[in-house]
Amino acid sequence: MRFAFSHDSLAAVAADLLVLGVPQGRLDDAIAGLGAFADDVRGVAAAEDFSGKAGSTLAVPTFGRIHATRLLLVGLGKGTPADLRNAAGTAGFQARTKGHKAVALAFPTATVDAASIVASAEAFAEGNYRFDKYKAESARKAAAETLTLVGVTDDAAAIARAEAMIAGQTLARDLVNEPAAEIYPESLARVAQGLASDRVTVTVLDFDAIKAKGMGGIVGVGQGSARTPRFVHMTYTPAGTPKGHLAFVGKGVTFDSGGLSLKPSDAMQTMRCDMAGAAAVIGAMKTIAMLQPDVRVDVIFGAVENMVNGDSYKLGDILKMYNGKRIEIHNTDAEGRLVLADCLHYASELKPDAIVDLATLTGAAVIALGDWYSALYTRSDALAATLLGHAQDAGEAAWRMPLVDLYKDKLKAEWGDMKNVGSRAGGSITAALFLSEFVTVENWAHLDIAGPAFLDSALLHYAAGGTGTMVRTLARWAESYQR
Ligand code: BES
Ligand code: MN
Ligand code: ZN
Repeated sequence: MRFAFSHDSLAAVAADLLVLGVPQGRLDDAIAGLGAFADDVRGVAAAEDFSGKAGSTLAVPTFGRIHATRLLLVGLGKGTPADLRNAAGTAGFQARTKGHKAVALAFPTATVDAASIVASAEAFAEGNYRFDKYKAESARKAAAETLTLVGVTDDAAAIARAEAMIAGQTLARDLVNEPAAEIYPESLARVAQGLASDRVTVTVLDFDAIKAKGMGGIVGVGQGSARTPRFVHMTYTPAGTPKGHLAFVGKGVTFDSGGLSLKPSDAMQTMRCDMAGAAAVIGAMKTIAMLQPDVRVDVIFGAVENMVNGDSYKLGDILKMYNGKRIEIHNTDAEGRLVLADCLHYASELKPDAIVDLATLTGAAVIALGDWYSALYTRSDALAATLLGHAQDAGEAAWRMPLVDLYKDKLKAEWGDMKNVGSRAGGSITAALFLSEFVTVENWAHLDIAGPAFLDSALLHYAAGGTGTMVRTLARWAESYQR
């Protein structure tokens, strides 16, 4: 998708679809640029009770009265940043639903600064996204080829920033949406290797190397699959003096059958999404490589299939983890934390200023917070504030949850140092507590993205499937980070 700016009057803008943002109660201002056609639009809006309420839309036939072929009014409500984002997302979603290629978007200029240009471009692309490559050509709708922003100051830097964010997020969505037959440990590692450049190094450990390193969590989960695990470490090194050092860790379970603690069929249906954490950190790395901030960023993920064969790890097994701890297996479906544990210990060895891990870790996080909010766990109030702030700016959502040390008892083991599951109650909390035992860096946060990473049905302007959640939050953090 290309982005452009136009300073034509609204009536003169050429497009397959012209979208006008309308703040609540300010229709006249929003359509003034339509010239003589504005009166007709005012009449239709009145008849249809369209007043610019946030989330509302009204398609108005143009009868050739303006240059654009079609006109869509989108309500901006009070015109908050979230309202602008949602309206641009709706424009993108509608354009793709109809297959419009040249789209123009006009917001009342007073509300549009550089940040809103970035947000609008991001949200439009986000709404315009579909994963339809496996559909017949005749069943696909064209993606938008250009989005023209009308009446705002040309800002090439804002567009470059948005393009980087979109590229990373789109990569993450594609990786999540691809079937597990396409994205398995080796192929996911290959995607990471594809991002290698003069600023990005990529190291991949194969199964033998993972065993030799003593990463017993990754080995245990991965040994039951014909597709052997991979351990991946990417490093972005800035050209200038680094202002800091961040590490992003992702859960890369390319398919989660549950293992011998087999999932029921319905729960297994979408478990190709269980590498969404890895997809997000790969996507963030792509964005960062494009933006080139002055901060070192390490990306680490374990790519593993949790499957059932004669070699599968078993209930009652005791795994020796990379940090030496012995973990007693009580449920082979609590596999993500075992993979992450080894990655988190490895990340800790790099001694970064902070570590954030992302994982579709627990169904309990979905029960607690639903499809929109990721569960954020950290002992650092400052890190929580930083991440929540960037999430807000990125139009993504996280909610801080408590790391209740009192619940650590639930992980007490009979034979080893710890069990791999706690109780059903507070399941996402005990999972986070389990992870915390493998982190030796003080500034650590865990994002359980099980809800937002994959949508069973469309939500807001997101089509069903992978969302690429948290790519833009991580990228914004790296962009502005200073030790
Ligand atoms: N990958 C799942 C969690 C999940 C559930 C992600 C729904 C996305 C949507 C994870 O590996 C898992 O199976 N967790 C178990 C843990 C339990 C056995 C302690 C769960 O949540 O049921
Ligand atoms: Mn599982
Ligand atoms: Zn899983």
